[in-house]
Amino acid sequence: MKIAQISDLHMGAEEKTLGIVDAAGKLEKLVAHINGLQPDLVLVSGDIAHEGSVAETTRAAALLANLTAPYYLTPGNHDTRSALQAAIPQAALPARESGHLSYCIEAETLRIIALDSSDPDAPHGRICPARAAWLETTLAASDTPTLIFMHHPPIKFAVEETDKPPMEGADMLAKVVARHPQIERILCGHIHLMAQALWHGRLVMTAPSLGMRLSWHPDHIKTSGFFDTPPAFLWHMHNEDGVLLSHEFTLDQPDGPFGFS
Ligand SMILES: [Fe+2]
Repeated sequence: MKIAQISDLHMGAEEKTLGIVDAAGKLEKLVAHINGLQPDLVLVSGDIAHEGSVAETTRAAALLANLTAPYYLTPGNHDTRSALQAAIPQAALPARESGHLSYCIEAETLRIIALDSSDPDAPHGRICPARAAWLETTLAASDTPTLIFMHHPPIKFAVEETDKPPMEGADMLAKVVARHPQIERILCGHIHLMAQALWHGRLVMTAPSLGMRLSWHPDHIKTSGFFDTPPAFLWHMHNEDGVLLSHEFTLDQPDGPFGFS
């Protein structure tokens, strides 16, 4: 299985996001690049739109439609569920339930669970009892190796803006996750940086933003902002020994490649 993960597009409706970031141009380039890599599927881990409008979401959907592989999407705190349901094809967002847009895909040798961590009234993540129960039931149905993808990481990554407040219900999620060793990754976005940590025995990874990398300091001594960065993404694949690998790539244009000898 070869999976590309895109996150935090922050698409504007017409102009550059915040007057700075050409999210549409970056997404167009990244879609073309990912198509060249021929993944089996693409995951989009939230913040598709910058202000959650139908126009922004529609613009993103038009560009994502150029992906040759099927793509699947989960809401972020900048998205609105109604805009996603209006603009995103059902194939890419199979959940149409009220309450939360979570769903499970059976993809060859992997199960992929999209867990909706968004709260329509708050920027922080939220796992309510209904979602924890849904996840427990879904995980209990199969021991197949599983990826969970969700917008908000369940742990604090020393990022001021997203640690406070932390995810509501993370303790409930932790109890479910700890019971299911078939979870190979918990793939998130939200913090606009690639980061990883073991959490209750499972590897949590965050994807970089499409093109708005967070400016960051470990001691929170500077107010963070963002850099207008080249398109970036994560790539997950099994090697020939069945081990799931994860790589981060940025579409910058460094000199090279050069030989090692
Ligand atoms: Fe974001």
